[in-house]
Amino acid sequence: MYKLVLIRHGESTWNLENRFTGWTDVDLTPTGVEQAKTAGRLLKEAGYDFDIAYTSVLKRAVWTLWHCLDQMDRTWLPVQHAWRLNERHYGGLQGLNKADMAKQYGDEQVLIWRRSYDTPPPALEATDPRSERSDVRYAKLNPNDVPLTECLKDTVARVLPFWNETVAPAIQGGQRVLIAAHGNSIRALVKYLDNIADDAIVGVNIPNGIPLVYELDASLKPIKSYYLGDAEAAAKAAAAVANQGKA
Ligand code: 3PG
Repeated sequence: MYKLVLIRHGESTWNLENRFTGWTDVDLTPTGVEQAKTAGRLLKEAGYDFDIAYTSVLKRAVWTLWHCLDQMDRTWLPVQHAWRLNERHYGGLQGLNKADMAKQYGDEQVLIWRRSYDTPPPALEATDPRSERSDVRYAKLNPNDVPLTECLKDTVARVLPFWNETVAPAIQGGQRVLIAAHGNSIRALVKYLDNIADDAIVGVNIPNGIPLVYELDASLKPIKSYYLGDAEAAAKAAAAVANQGKA
């Protein structure tokens, strides 16, 4: 049996301001830093240890991983940064306030933008100053791999090659893996691992900064999964995420 730990970054400045973030590279708030540290302490106290960590190329996830590993005295572990673990690209919604959008377009439309499996938000123009196409960290990618918007289905499609080619072989090779990523890149992994139907993934929300443990069999099928620590607090935090898109 293998164990895999996933963690969504701690609270970011735009989580605090309730703004659609996507690929915008915002920092953690002091609360977010504390959440990451608490997660690291929780993992250490529960006896977890890791051989390798994966994260995105967005600083809220990178710092979360770093604070987590620091609490575990494991800052020296190999860390691989992968754009494929980035948050879902939120297109033209990036920067806009979620509750304001719900006031303007209705809760239902915002729920479709946030949680429908295959309806992407309006796309950014490639020339929009908010587009990441000219960002140096994506310079080596095929420009078409740098999205202008994404639905969860698109996120699944770009996360899975990284899972299949890098993460799964590492786990099956006996490495203990920690992944620090984002609400929707983790939802993409959870959908794949738990084989959740397209219409059921709408109800899955990932709270900030709480380790999500998967126990996997030899073929990486989940035996069980759970949030580390206070399960009720994790459920409450997930419900708060669900409510961020209401007027
Ligand atoms: C964002 O990109 O805005 C958040 O990190 C995830 O947002 P969501 O919960 O609205 O999908």
